[in-house]
Amino acid sequence: MPSPRVTVSTLAAMKGRGERIACLTCYDATFTRLLERAGVDVLLVGDSLGMVLQGQEATVSVTLDQMVYHCASVARRRERALLVGDMPFLSYATPERALATAGRLMQEGGVHMVKFEGGGALVDTVAALTAQGVPVCGHLGLLPQSVHKLGGYRFQGRDAVSARCIREDAAALQAAGAGLLILECVPAALAAEIAGQLKIPVIGIGAGAGCDGQVLVLHDMLGLNTGRPPSFSKDFLTGRTDGVAGALASYVREVKAGTFPGTAQTPA
Ligand code: KIV
Repeated sequence: MPSPRVTVSTLAAMKGRGERIACLTCYDATFTRLLERAGVDVLLVGDSLGMVLQGQEATVSVTLDQMVYHCASVARRRERALLVGDMPFLSYATPERALATAGRLMQEGGVHMVKFEGGGALVDTVAALTAQGVPVCGHLGLLPQSVHKLGGYRFQGRDAVSARCIREDAAALQAAGAGLLILECVPAALAAEIAGQLKIPVIGIGAGAGCDGQVLVLHDMLGLNTGRPPSFSKDFLTGRTDGVAGALASYVREVKAGTFPGTAQTPA
C-alpha cells in the first residue's frame, strides 16, 4: 500500500509526536522521484534555483513564470511529499499580488503551500492567503531576497534586538495563520526556543538540531556546490558507494535520528 500523502496536518502531527521532518529543495522531475524514494517529507521548490540552476548571484531575478515551470516539473512526479513553492521577490508585496501569485503557483505549478520571506509586515498577507485556503510557510532569519538590503548573506539573531524581532515575527506569523516556518541562519538556541514555543513545525537551515525538521539546498548536500558551500551544510555523497540514492537516504536517516546537523554544522 502506498504511504499516505503528507499534508500540513501530517506535519503538525509529526511535530506532536516528536518525529523530525526531512525537507530538501527540489527543482525537477528526476530528482523528485529520487527524493520521494528516499522518504523526504517536504519538497521545496526554492528560488535558490536562481543560483544553483541559473548561475545567478542572488535569488532576486527569479520570476514567477520560472517558479511555475519548476513547481509543475516537480508536481508531475510528486507522490507522497508535501510540495512547497517559493513566492519570488516582490511577488507578494501586497496581499492582492500575493493572492495572484499563490493562484498561479497552486493552479499551474501544483504546489500545496506557498513560502515567502519576512515577518510582521506580512501578517495581513498571511491572513489574506489563509482566509482563501492557501497554506503558508513563513521564512525568517536570513532572508536571501533581501541580500542587497542586508549587504550579504549574514547570520541573523545574534544580538538581543534582532533575536527579539525574530521571536516576535515567528509568533505573529503563526497567529496570522502560517502552518510552517523556516528559520535560516539563526543561533541554535534561539531556533530551539522558537520551535519549543510555536505550535506549528519549525524547519531549520543553519539553525541547529533543535528544530522540528531540517532543510538543505539539494546541490549543497550532494557536494555539487562548486563555489563556497555553506558551513552548515554537509556533503552526503562524496565517498559513498551507493550513489545519489544512498546520499539522500542517509540525509533522511540523519535528520530523523537528530544526528544532522551535528556540532560541525551548527554555527555558534
Ligand atoms: O530558496 C530556497 O531554497 C530556500 C531554502 C534555502 C530554505 O528558501
